[in-house]
Amino acid sequence: MTYTMKALLLGRGPEWVLDDVPVPGPGPGEVLIRNRASATNNADLPMLTEADPTHGGTGKESIAGFEYAGEIAAVGQDAGDWKVGDPVMGTFPSAFAEYLVADHRFALPRPQDLVPEIACALPTGLLTEFGALSAAGFRPGQSVLITGASTSIGMIGIQIAKTLGASRIIATTRSTDKKDLLTRLGADTVIVTGDGSELTGAVLEATGGEGADVVLDHVAGDTFAACLPATAPDGHVVNIGRLAGPAATIDLDALSYRHLTVHGVSFGFSRDWETVPILEGLRAKVLPAVGRGDIAPVTDATLTIEQYQEAADRLRSGNAVGKVVLTFA
Ligand SMILES: NC(=O)c1ccc[n+]([C@@H]2O[C@H](COP(=O)([O-])OP(=O)(O)OC[C@H]3O[C@@H](n4cnc5c(N)ncnc54)[C@H](OP(=O)(O)O)[C@@H]3O)[C@@H](O)[C@H]2O)c1
Repeated sequence: MTYTMKALLLGRGPEWVLDDVPVPGPGPGEVLIRNRASATNNADLPMLTEADPTHGGTGKESIAGFEYAGEIAAVGQDAGDWKVGDPVMGTFPSAFAEYLVADHRFALPRPQDLVPEIACALPTGLLTEFGALSAAGFRPGQSVLITGASTSIGMIGIQIAKTLGASRIIATTRSTDKKDLLTRLGADTVIVTGDGSELTGAVLEATGGEGADVVLDHVAGDTFAACLPATAPDGHVVNIGRLAGPAATIDLDALSYRHLTVHGVSFGFSRDWETVPILEGLRAKVLPAVGRGDIAPVTDATLTIEQYQEAADRLRSGNAVGKVVLTFA
């Protein structure tokens, strides 16, 4: 007998389709997860468009989504120490479904008191922001500039940098009304761009003329260019997102005279040998703070899976502050 589950599918048209599909089984090295809640990501909408056969997309049908939280439902051969019933959370393809199979190394233990509706909004931010800080060789006592800090993952980045001992966190947003939120999350200085504040000068002023030791850039475009002269000598600039577009004209003098290192990270395209050590570092250095409640996601809306169209509309509006969460009964 084949058991079925509810899942949101890509590849049938311009919108997700909620349908019943077979429950997958875990292969070697995999775990089956009973998913209780999923969070949306910035990448979900472009993936929907790319698969849309009615507008020139691939028409390749698959289950949408990445972030999940629930518990282990079955353990495949050679799948580590996981046991049925262990609470988990993580980021893995095909997450918008009642069940998913994941590589056992990619599941993170979910702290007992962290309910799935909250936990599911953390893994992408945890992995991406901790991975970016690791790529930059971040050390306690260093200052961190986070551009586009009001993005879902940027807000987690602020809290991780604080937990790991940043001396000063400088956050940027285009919206004056998000200043208090970013301050509450741990930013020492909030620069409202487009509000007369000039990014480079404001960062230099906040760092006594030195510049930030590490930059986590979610915006790219002109913002990326403005970050270079705002980075301390020997500092590291990590591009994470390209909300303002992928192209930038940069001043190579600012790069060379300051001996800067530029990194690009895209965890969707990382090889396992790159991701697994980041997850191990995350477990040791960051998850205890998640368990204590020192790191928590910002949630814009919590909806049921049947309200998926409302979730897509909210994402498209560009007005969501934090994650849109979908729950499975
Ligand atoms: N490298 C990776 O592995 C990785 C992983 C996940 C996400 N990402 C990328 O990281 C970025 C953030 O993702 P997310 O899901 O956290 O975003 P999100 O929550 O959807 O971010 C929304 C916020 O971004 C800001 N924003 C939007 N357009 C902007 C623009 N043109 N210039 C400056 N700010 C803009 C706005 O904040 P304000 O109004 O406050 O300015 C907006 O409220 C995306 O580009 C995403 O693709 C990368």
